Amino acid sequence: MSKGKFITLEGGEGLGKSTNLAFVKECLERRGRRVIVTREPGGTPLGEQVRAILLGDGQVSPPTELLLVFAARAQHVQDVIRPALENGDWVVSDRFTDASYAYQGGGRGIDAAVIASLERYVQQELEPDLTLLFDAPVEVGLARAKRRGAADRFESEDLDFFRRIREAYLARARSVPQRIRLIDASQALPAVQDQILRCIEAL
Ligand code: TMP
Repeated sequence: MSKGKFITLEGGEGLGKSTNLAFVKECLERRGRRVIVTREPGGTPLGEQVRAILLGDGQVSPPTELLLVFAARAQHVQDVIRPALENGDWVVSDRFTDASYAYQGGGRGIDAAVIASLERYVQQELEPDLTLLFDAPVEVGLARAKRRGAADRFESEDLDFFRRIREAYLARARSVPQRIRLIDASQALPAVQDQILRCIEAL
């Protein structure tokens, strides 16, 4: 049986990742794929508990934050992602390791080499086949995120934090352009979905 493929959705807050997750699933299912939709932090019972800690309002230091996202990821890779891919299913995840480079690396200032070593330890050779990076000026996303309701621990950060995250994401897209495809999320939904469709068809 052929192995499935692994697609991740990334980007700042409020840029339509979650809405488009459903669209990606639908596109793949129309092409006859079995699809598992998941998210990070989360995706397993342990991961969802970690998510509650990370998004809650308690104190979490940057190193703790990094280790928690990778702890959740280790369980997610082992219990959900690898078994699904081995089974020939396609996995679509709302965020994965590029988010650690962007938020913990760019946002919190943690050295990328530390993140890379955890990435190797937790994932070994596993990496996404395609990453859709939703990008727009940070003001656009934050205004939309605000309309969604109360801010979580990340959403309460200042504008500079989100600018650093966007820069870190864009730097990653420049360094692995064959995997990370930029989606202009400032466009209207039909235009965004056209871009997504082209990336999926190419895959
Ligand atoms: P969201 O998926 O609803 O946007 O919320 C998840 C939050 O977790 C988001 O603010 C980004 C953050 N996050 C990290 O800081 N590092 C990570 O590695 C991941 C996967 C998420």
